[in-house]
Amino acid sequence: MKFLVINGPNINFLGIREPGIYGSRSFADLLRLLEDTARELDVEVEQFQSNHEGDIVDKIQWAYGKVDGIVINPAAYTHTSVAILDALKAVAIPAVEVHISDVDSRESFRQVSYAGLACCKTIKGHGLEGYREAILFLKSRLEAT
Ligand code: DQA
Repeated sequence: MKFLVINGPNINFLGIREPGIYGSRSFADLLRLLEDTARELDVEVEQFQSNHEGDIVDKIQWAYGKVDGIVINPAAYTHTSVAILDALKAVAIPAVEVHISDVDSRESFRQVSYAGLACCKTIKGHGLEGYREAILFLKSRLEAT
């Protein structure tokens, strides 16, 4: 089973950006958590991070026919990008949306998620552990079908 984890803009600045909101763990810590999760669950996990909307669309299209599930934190593009929503709908790969922070308790513009409309689940406010939960959820869902 292979999963693709996509992170959008500024997620590579974890540990540096707004630690009061996103915590003190770094992007390298997140990559380690993904590797550990892959080993633990005996699945393959590829990660991709980009600050560019079109590159994220390209990566979602690339995933077609190659991965069994997508975990995506589109970051700020969550709230703006119809292109990422359309790409997720186009490939129709089971996808889970992850947000490190609890977007529901933040500014009103963060309450809207376009990408979430193409996802079977959203995990928010669980910090980096949310990525592990998302992979576990997708694995269990795929095993059940
Ligand atoms: C985020 C929440 C977004 O609103 C924000 O723009 C981000 C990160 C999160 O993981 O909590 O960059 O997606």
